Amino acid sequence: MISFAKHTAHLISWIPEGHDEVMYLSTQAFMEAGKPIRGGVPICWPWFGSLENKPAHGFARINSWNTISENSFSLPEQLIQDEWGNKASLVFTVTEDGNKLKMELTTTNLDSSEFEFTQALHTYFKVSDINKVSIKGHDKQAYYDKVLDDNDIQKGTLIFNGETDRIYTTTASSLLIDPGLQREILITKKGSNSTVIWNPGPEKSVEMKDMPDDGYLTMCCVEAANTHLDPVTLQPGASHTIVQEITVSKF
Ligand code: BG6
Repeated sequence: MISFAKHTAHLISWIPEGHDEVMYLSTQAFMEAGKPIRGGVPICWPWFGSLENKPAHGFARINSWNTISENSFSLPEQLIQDEWGNKASLVFTVTEDGNKLKMELTTTNLDSSEFEFTQALHTYFKVSDINKVSIKGHDKQAYYDKVLDDNDIQKGTLIFNGETDRIYTTTASSLLIDPGLQREILITKKGSNSTVIWNPGPEKSVEMKDMPDDGYLTMCCVEAANTHLDPVTLQPGASHTIVQEITVSKF
């Protein structure tokens, strides 16, 4: 079963049949218009990260969307033009099939000149204990470490040791292994080179007003993205779709 936050395309819960909740949603999340929701799948668009005097991670995640059908939404085109200056359409569609969830975000250039954008499906996964989970699929991959402002290479399995904020640019899939919940989550994607892995760690968790002090212990983000390292350029009339697919299994 899938649930969205009111008037938005923000998925806040996914409980596949026979499984427990997959998404993390902070108990202190702000569930009001104009504020980002800490958890579920925020849609970061048309920029990922911060832009001076602009909402962090873009305006798509803090605005109302139109409903196209049960699990499909569009961001009002007038809002896009007013907030961004470019003419574009943005459609988000979610499909559930047993233990699989597919999320697709399509941007179409309705303008007469090309534009560039960055984005992310900023998925928050619920975990039993961040100190015990691991992520496979990144061995020997290069990443930009935002915490250290440095580039590095992943050695073996990824484990969390304090604040983690990385952009991997050659990831095809990530496998999140959670011994506490006895489950594996396979995360694959299309139309994206950047995989962002984020956990705020203890200090940042305390600083965030919309997360309990120990909130970092039970979440981790694995995001399908096009960051500043792989922005998308769209010609007039062209479309780009970023897809994140999630498959849950028990062990
Ligand atoms: C991640 C970024 O995607 O989102 C982090 O890599 C950022 O740098 C995090 O801190 C949360 O962002 P926000 O705006 O939701 O607090």
